[in-house]
Amino acid sequence: NVSAITDARRRPLHDLRISVTDRCNFRCVYCMPKEIFGRDFQFRERSELLTFEEIERLARVSVSLGVHKLRITGGEPLLRRGIVDLVGMLSQLKTPEGRPVDLAMTTNGSALPHLAQDLIDAGLKRVTISLDSLDDERFKAINDVNFPVSRVLKAIEVASEVGLGPVKINTVVKKGVNDDEILTLAEHFRGTGQILRFIEYMDVGTTNGWKLDEVLPSTEVVSMINAKWELEPVTKTEPGETANRWRYKDGGGEIGVISSVTNAFCGNCSRARVSAEGQLFTCLFAGSGLDLRALMRDGADDEKLAEVLSGHWRKRDDNYSELRAALTPGNRKRIEMSYIGG
Ligand code: GTP
Ligand code: 5AD
Ligand code: SF4
Ligand code: SF4
Repeated sequence: NVSAITDARRRPLHDLRISVTDRCNFRCVYCMPKEIFGRDFQFRERSELLTFEEIERLARVSVSLGVHKLRITGGEPLLRRGIVDLVGMLSQLKTPEGRPVDLAMTTNGSALPHLAQDLIDAGLKRVTISLDSLDDERFKAINDVNFPVSRVLKAIEVASEVGLGPVKINTVVKKGVNDDEILTLAEHFRGTGQILRFIEYMDVGTTNGWKLDEVLPSTEVVSMINAKWELEPVTKTEPGETANRWRYKDGGGEIGVISSVTNAFCGNCSRARVSAEGQLFTCLFAGSGLDLRALMRDGADDEKLAEVLSGHWRKRDDNYSELRAALTPGNRKRIEMSYIGG
């Protein structure tokens, strides 16, 4: 039984997050600060990136091993040339039981208004759009490239209209930056069918200067919203899900909170990640990956690829978020969020 592949902590492999580019047109201060990701920053050359054929192959072999969720990430995935064609290739994949895979994308939304229809036609099921503030000045200060919030709101609208939903909205909460907008955001998305998710600011990578006192615990987010509009918990559809889900008792829909810092969810983590250049990472906080591009370009066949992938997963014992409190920050090499796509 192939779907029985489990790691050293008995966790199955269910999700593959595929980064298709390390580039982004935003410079969010907590993700790609300009001082580091400036004009001189060396992004990967095109020849270094996995080709669509290589990505499709990796995804197909992963699906044969039990993966049933694929998420396309970046950087900003819509910047990858031909992205609609890649979606078309990945949406053809079927699980060993003959079901289509769940194909989603996490994007900043900037290119969605003109691509949403093509993406859904190519087989994309859902999108998650990042939005940290409804205030135009503040939003521009966060993305640091003067990108107006109205265009992201437009993207959310278009994505919903074409059927790429329910659209999830990701809001990274940073104390003193946007924690005063929690109720405004909740009110904005209540009753729209879109699912707003508040994410605890995480110590991904080593360039964002993360400090624990900038993290607003999700319990506080939930109690703030609950005080205004009563909430009740919704059970997770999948045990390994990132978000804890809540529903407005008055029928206003659902929200989620992602609490990697205060309430780690490593226990059921079934996610593997592939970087744009084909490195396999078994944790968002990993220091190094496994070079699948070299393996493929050296001529490994599908069987060999499956063997390497499953062998690597079986050895996996990552649980960074559970250990975080016990680790001294800064003394550990970690990949960047923009490189691995969150
Ligand atoms: P759904 O499956 O649709 O719920 O999406 P998702 O929550 O898996 O993906 P998304 O890209 O929207 O990520 C939401 C937030 O959770 C981002 O800040 C991610 O970096 C974070 N995240 C996703 N997977 C993991 C994980 O395995 N570990 C940790 N610590 N954070 C994660
Ligand atoms: N902590 C939490 N979430 C982050 N994201 C980017 N950097 C961080 C961080 N340090 C979010 C993005 C996007 C998702 C993939 O991860 O806003 O919505
Ligand atoms: Fe911002 Fe996402 Fe781009 Fe990072 S990858 S800079 S979070 S839009
Ligand atoms: Fe999975 Fe690593 Fe995130 Fe834990 S910290 S949930 S092991 S990716």
